[in-house]
Amino acid sequence: MKISDRIRHISINDHKTERFEGLWALPYGVSYNSYLVVDEKIALIDTAGAEYKDLFLEAIREEIGSRAIDYVVVNHMEPDHSALLSEIRNLYPDVTILCSQKAAGMIAGYHGITDNIQTVKENESVSLGNCNLTFYMTPMVHWPETMMTWLAEEKTFFTGDAFGAFMACDGQTVDGFDRIELEMTRYYASIVGKYGAQVQMALKKAAGLEIERICSTHGPVWEQEIGKTVALYDQLSRYEPVRKGVCIAYGSMYGNTEKAALDLAAELERLGVEYRLHNLSAEDPSFAYRDAFRYTHIVAGSPTYNNDIYPPVYSFMYGLGARLLKNRKFFAFGSFTWAGASVKLLNAMAEKNGWTLIGEGKSFSQGWSKEKCDLRELAEAIAADCR
Ligand code: FEO
Repeated sequence: MKISDRIRHISINDHKTERFEGLWALPYGVSYNSYLVVDEKIALIDTAGAEYKDLFLEAIREEIGSRAIDYVVVNHMEPDHSALLSEIRNLYPDVTILCSQKAAGMIAGYHGITDNIQTVKENESVSLGNCNLTFYMTPMVHWPETMMTWLAEEKTFFTGDAFGAFMACDGQTVDGFDRIELEMTRYYASIVGKYGAQVQMALKKAAGLEIERICSTHGPVWEQEIGKTVALYDQLSRYEPVRKGVCIAYGSMYGNTEKAALDLAAELERLGVEYRLHNLSAEDPSFAYRDAFRYTHIVAGSPTYNNDIYPPVYSFMYGLGARLLKNRKFFAFGSFTWAGASVKLLNAMAEKNGWTLIGEGKSFSQGWSKEKCDLRELAEAIAADCR
């Protein structure tokens, strides 16, 4: 697809893969984007996953016909963007690979390619004739070799994973922030969430550029809605909540902890507090990660299991700690049959993450009833916080 006279968008829309990285559910699919910059010389920016070889090469031929690709820019080596590097080399044997020093080692490791590689440094430019590609090192957004590519003549920034989203683009390839915000946040929280400090450094570099177009490797090209997109990334990478409200995440074996979670949801509803409920026994944690990043409050519910936290809830809490999520208010609840341990252990994990406990938590034995586990006071405290 033509983005401008010089830039072509090659977007593979994947509705088949069930889990990104083998982990994260894709209810709306995902896109893998690469870009051709067509000038006196032609540069291809990133490639795609191995399973899309035929589609990808055909799309390139449609755009450039019998012309050869002179450069392939490797902004990021994760195989969803680099798997077809060998195929490009086979088809265009004189192509020069432009990449960071760290990426060069990975190219050797993944593809066995060690020649025709030109490593580039911060702020270095390569001319395509009438326009120039300039490179900015952005390590850990999302791997250590990552860089971004600036095309000043088009005011276009090729940002790799940054500003990407789950969700196939299909017909809507430019903007669409309101439609995509939740899937963008889920992508950020799952994939990039640990690297807030590095995203902040990348944003500082981007602030010096007069950007009119962001070309990410997942999701749409951003043009009219760059401001909203950058503001969301800025907020998420500072670990600041995006909205006042509650992420309720729970696991349940026989429905008692679940009854407490649903009762809390009803109390919050009554008080007009925004919340989202996640059953971690039934869904992968990325949806709850999204809302933990998004909201001011996290409430976790877990039965006691093997004198410990119920495994999916432990995994959720551990995952948020691994993503360095800070600056949240927290409450724990959960059922047990003969000895309660989960609430105390959840509180300890929350404190280790640096979150503020709203109270000591609520633990109840065996079947749930409102008398045993009344979360009205908690709901009122949260409502007061959220006013
Ligand atoms: Fe889309 Fe980090 O790869």
